[in-house]
Amino acid sequence: MKGIVLAGGSGTRLYPMTLAVSKQLVPVYDKPMIYYPISVLMLAGITDILIITTPQDRDAYERLLGDGSWLGLTFSYAEQPHPRGLADAFIVGADHVGDDSVALILGDNIFHGPGFSQLLTRSSDGIKGCVLFGYAVSDPHRYGIGEVDEYGHLISLEEKPAAPRSNRAVTGLYFYDNDVVEIARSLTPSARGELEITDVNKTYLERGRARLVDLGRGFAWLDAGTYESLLEAGQYVRALELRQGVRIACLEEIALHAGLIDAEQCYDLGRRVGNSGYGHYVMELAEQARRSPMSVALR
Ligand code: TTP
Repeated sequence: MKGIVLAGGSGTRLYPMTLAVSKQLVPVYDKPMIYYPISVLMLAGITDILIITTPQDRDAYERLLGDGSWLGLTFSYAEQPHPRGLADAFIVGADHVGDDSVALILGDNIFHGPGFSQLLTRSSDGIKGCVLFGYAVSDPHRYGIGEVDEYGHLISLEEKPAAPRSNRAVTGLYFYDNDVVEIARSLTPSARGELEITDVNKTYLERGRARLVDLGRGFAWLDAGTYESLLEAGQYVRALELRQGVRIACLEEIALHAGLIDAEQCYDLGRRVGNSGYGHYVMELAEQARRSPMSVALR
């Protein structure tokens, strides 16, 4: 399965923060926002990731993330000149997807919870149709809402419903089989001029090939697109990191864990940012892995 992080957009709700800096480069506590969605794709076992940016921000992303080899990954880049909608990702990224299946994640979405990696790999294995991820929210009229039957098959999708049929919001992580490229190409822009991901999902729904996997109540799903949600996301990450002494979305840690890099490489990556708490954490992980390789797997 290929991965796409959608990191374009205009970030107008965060103005003036995002006048000169792309939203997905803004920090969420101790690391750039884009680390969080990349970590999700890595946890799903995806190693070939396309990052879609605006033309003006591409250099900054390349400076931050390079070609991905430092993490044992492949990062490539594509430009979306205008925010033509989430489904445009599959048109811009068609070559990257090739004849594979694909996971799309929005660059400002943060997911954190127990057993996530297993849930992701179970959901992507041999995917036929699409898998969406549902999250219970207290204010369903603000979201795209999905309703499922007893087998987890999606039976309805509504955008910002006045009378919601369920409280399951559709989050910004989507798994699709290869049909998604053709489906995206066949869409016409909505009234707001965008290629809507909901229209893609509705096509799968009509074909009876859409599932909604529940993320469960122990999970955190946050987006960081407004002043409040950005601050809340930072506070959430800070609280867990300080309390538990672990870091959320530490890319070096996930790479080490997955065997994509070894302890020596991990140590060098930590030293690169060694003047920071993040850097110390990465070096400490590497030292533990050198002392006892099993300790990495057990974290
Ligand atoms: P949004 O938050 O809906 O849009 P935005 O980032 O442009 O922000 P604002 O509403 O404040 O102007 O987008 C969700 C995510 O998807 C975000 O990470 C940006 C990304 N995105 C694109 O990359 N291209 C697009 O065409 C759209 C609509 C969004």
